[in-house]
Amino acid sequence: MVMDDGSGQKASKTIGRREALANISLLGALVVLGAGVVNAFVRFIYPPRRGVQGAGDEIEVGPVANLAIGKGTKFFADGVTYWVLHVDDGFKSFNAKCTHAGCIVEWIEGSRYFKCPCHGAQFDANGNVISGPAPSPLVAAATIVKGGKIYLKG
Ligand code: FES
Repeated sequence: MVMDDGSGQKASKTIGRREALANISLLGALVVLGAGVVNAFVRFIYPPRRGVQGAGDEIEVGPVANLAIGKGTKFFADGVTYWVLHVDDGFKSFNAKCTHAGCIVEWIEGSRYFKCPCHGAQFDANGNVISGPAPSPLVAAATIVKGGKIYLKG
């Protein structure tokens, strides 16, 4: 690096390897810190939905006749994967994202529970945790049946 020492003469300084690595580490730490601050700000402005969803528009899933009791269908809308179930007490919908680390859970039709392929969490047909490591139930979506069709509100 060439520096001007104010006397009109140029002085050169070589940055050592350790100093360069320290600068790179500091820069990396600042980038990570900055990303965390931006993420916290965005989550403050647009908080993630928790609990039962249903503030959005109705999304048509399909005819009731296509979903027999015990069956589930995976449905993708607005960037979200849902499971829509027909169980003994009616139709239910859940965000398919596991509450542990966000993997998409699978509906085990024969046994009527959800299983996460990533770390094995299990949820019952109401979205409640049967076994960990998931810390909380699946997020339910409002499910509406009208005119022979199933709708959900994401
Ligand atoms: Fe589902 Fe870990 S992401 S159990």
